[in-house]
Parts: sequence; C-alpha cells; structure tokens
Amino acid sequence: MKRLENRICIITGAARGIGAAISTAFIKEGADVIATDRDEGALLAFAKEAGCKTMRLDVGNEDDWQKLADAYPAIDVMVNNAGITGFEDGIVAHDPENASLADWRAVHQVNLDGTFMGCRYAIRAMRQRKSGSIINISSRSGMVGIPAAAAYASSKAAIRNHSKTVALYCAQQGYNIRCNSIHPAAILTPMWEPMLGNGPDRDARMAALVADTPAKRFGTPDEVAALAVLLASDEAAYMTGTELTIDGGLLAGSAATPG
Ligand SMILES: NC(=O)c1ccc[n+]([C@@H]2O[C@H](COP(=O)([O-])OP(=O)(O)OC[C@H]3O[C@@H](n4cnc5c(N)ncnc54)[C@H](O)[C@@H]3O)[C@@H](O)[C@H]2O)c1
Repeated sequence: MKRLENRICIITGAARGIGAAISTAFIKEGADVIATDRDEGALLAFAKEAGCKTMRLDVGNEDDWQKLADAYPAIDVMVNNAGITGFEDGIVAHDPENASLADWRAVHQVNLDGTFMGCRYAIRAMRQRKSGSIINISSRSGMVGIPAAAAYASSKAAIRNHSKTVALYCAQQGYNIRCNSIHPAAILTPMWEPMLGNGPDRDARMAALVADTPAKRFGTPDEVAALAVLLASDEAAYMTGTELTIDGGLLAGSAATPG
C-alpha cells in the first residue's frame, strides 16, 4: 500500500519548483493529484510529463477558488505552496523604508491571501470526511527578519501563525483536519534565477548565497517534497500546528556563533 493511495490532493503553484516536486512525489505515493498554477502553459507542460489532472488557479483570486471548490468539493490533502518574492519581474525596492504600498500588497495578496483562501477552501472540503491534512509552505523568512524583502518575510511569518490558528480551530471543531507549516531556506528552484543571473559570476553568487548555511549547499525541491509526503500521510497523524524547518542547519545557530 502506497502512503497516499487514492487521496485527492490539491497543490498550488505546481507548474515548477517545489510545487512540481511535491506533485511528483505525491503521484509516486499513489495520490490523485490536481496540480494548479496561474501559469497555464507551464502547468500543462508539467502535467503532461507527470501524468496528473490540472486546473488553472491564481491563488490571489477568490473567483478561481470558487471554481476549484465547485470542481472538487471534497479533498484529502491541500498544499498551499504558491508564493512570490516580489522580484519576479526584476529587482525593486522591498526594504521597509522604500517599498511601495502596491508592491507590499501584491506580495501579501499571493502569499498570505492565497494561503488564507486555500485553508478556508480546504476546511470546507475536508470537514464532512472528518479527515484531512493542510500543508502551508512558509519559509525561514517567516521566522527571521529580511531587510531587503520585507513583504515576503511579513507574509511568510503570517502564514506560520495562520497555520497554527487553522490547526487549533480544526481541533476545536472536532474536524480531525491537521494543519502544519514547512519552512525551507535556499532550495534551488527557478525562484532564485533573478538573483543568480546568467553572468560569469553565477557560480560565485551561488556560493555566496549559501556561505552562511552550515550544509554549504542549496537544498533540492525533492528534499522539501519528502517532508510534504510525511505531513500528508497517516504517519503524521499526531502532528498538527507544528513547523518543520528544512534549511541545511541555518536556523540552528546565529550568524555570530561563539568559537
Ligand atoms: N526556493 C526557495 O529557496 C524557497 C525558500 C523558502 C520558501 N519557499 C517557498 O516555496 C514555495 C515555492 O517556491 P519555489 O522556489 O518553487 O518558487 P518558483 O518561483 O520556482 O515556483 C512558484 C510557482 O508558483 C506559481 N505562482 C506564482 N504566483 C501564483 C499565483 N498567484 N497563483 C498560483 N500560482 C502562482 C508560479 O507560476 C510558479 O509555477 C513558495 O511559497 C516560496 O515562497 C521557497
């Protein structure tokens, strides 16, 4: 018996990166995966390769969530993975002094509003079955301040806290719906491309970005997917409201480690 046999699983932001890796790992474990993304072209290309269902879903759009609820009124696993840094179209000011309100709101609309609507949909689609697992992809940036990415850090911190609220609420209601957050750091996906560039200094930039990581390397999307499989499966039946870091040891110490 595979670990997610016949479970209906929705994954957001699944066309590439961590979301694609989670979808692939779930399919291997026997899940009935509905991969969703706002980028329909990339989503269809991924699904053709992976062999799963798809639905176009912009997580910041409430109408899109309603369409998903109409199509899939009952599910077992929800992974709120879609997220943006705000640097997708090039580097703009995202520090607390110079960020524009529009840029601040755009990041929160995807990361935080998207996760709120994903959790709300999932609770409604799981409560009749009295069983389910919601997995929210936060970040180590939800646990520490990030001077150059204020909205990203703020939205990811809010996701961490909202996951605990959802976990407590569902336990209180007797729904048997678990909710946990995953906090990755430095996972090599297309999200890093605007920061790495294609110039001759690409390798040096990569090394510099993980210089403070005790493991001295980027993590892989598959390593994050393995955690999502665990949280989705019955092996994690007693885990709710918890946060799992996957960061090569980054949060184990501080930058000023004694000795
Ligand atoms: N890569 C890392 O180092 C890292 C670290 C910490 C947290 N995370 C988080 O992991 C998640 C996935 O990151 P990734 O590195 O795979 O990113 P990515 O940029 O490679 O992929 C993100 C996917 O989300 C989709 N997406 C973006 N906005 C969307 C929206 N409004 N609605 C639906 N889909 C949307 C994109 O089309 C893309 O397919 C994000 O929430 C990110 O914040 C990543």
